[in-house]
Amino acid sequence: MTELQKPIVIGITGGSASGKTTVAHAIFEHFSKNSSIMLLEQDSYYKASDLPFAQRKLINYDHPLAFDTELLISDLKKLLRRESIDKPVYDYTIHNRSEETVHVEPKDVIILEGILILDDEELRNLMDIKVFVDTDDDIRVIRRIQRDMIERGRSLENIIQQYRATVKPMYHEFIEPTKRYADLIVPEGGENQVAIDLLATKIQAILNDRGLA
Ligand code: CTP
Repeated sequence: MTELQKPIVIGITGGSASGKTTVAHAIFEHFSKNSSIMLLEQDSYYKASDLPFAQRKLINYDHPLAFDTELLISDLKKLLRRESIDKPVYDYTIHNRSEETVHVEPKDVIILEGILILDDEELRNLMDIKVFVDTDDDIRVIRRIQRDMIERGRSLENIIQQYRATVKPMYHEFIEPTKRYADLIVPEGGENQVAIDLLATKIQAILNDRGLA
């Protein structure tokens, strides 16, 4: 009775540009042929804002309060009850939630990915496996510069200013301390095939246990 079984939730966290998305996609690719699986990004749940653009640019996006955690928990609980959700869509270029939402059907495996998913106890307790992708700060900052310039329309000056003002201090204050809640710490996330294989084996074991395989 597949529809009565609780879906599996895998939380993948780590600092900005640590390689969370690469790990999440590797797991997704591994299971997508034979299982029903979905990705849920914490980024989609950045709070919507009425502030003008000039002020939205200055918001601290690396603080737990930047996220609508209540909505994320409520959506995740719906997916766990096998109900569909209308997932918000976040637009980095305008620093705001866009008008549209995406209708998402529940799946057997949910990969939840984001910088602060282990900070909230209620959210944490909804996860079956918690992974922290641990990548050196210098590698992360290089990746972030490349990504933000190419994909998020930011200037080098702006990226460096934001990194010094919020990204780095918030990582040390809020994100790095959540490593203690992780079941698995993965060095150099995306390139760590051994860790990805171990994770896939564990997920498969849970799928078998719950009769979802
Ligand atoms: N952020 C931003 N501007 C916004 C909203 C968020 O610059 N309007 C930044 C925050 O500073 C935060 C980052 O987005 O540090 C979160 O995304 P990140 O974890 O870097 O992206 P992913 O692709 O999910 O991560 P990874 O590279 O690890 O796959």
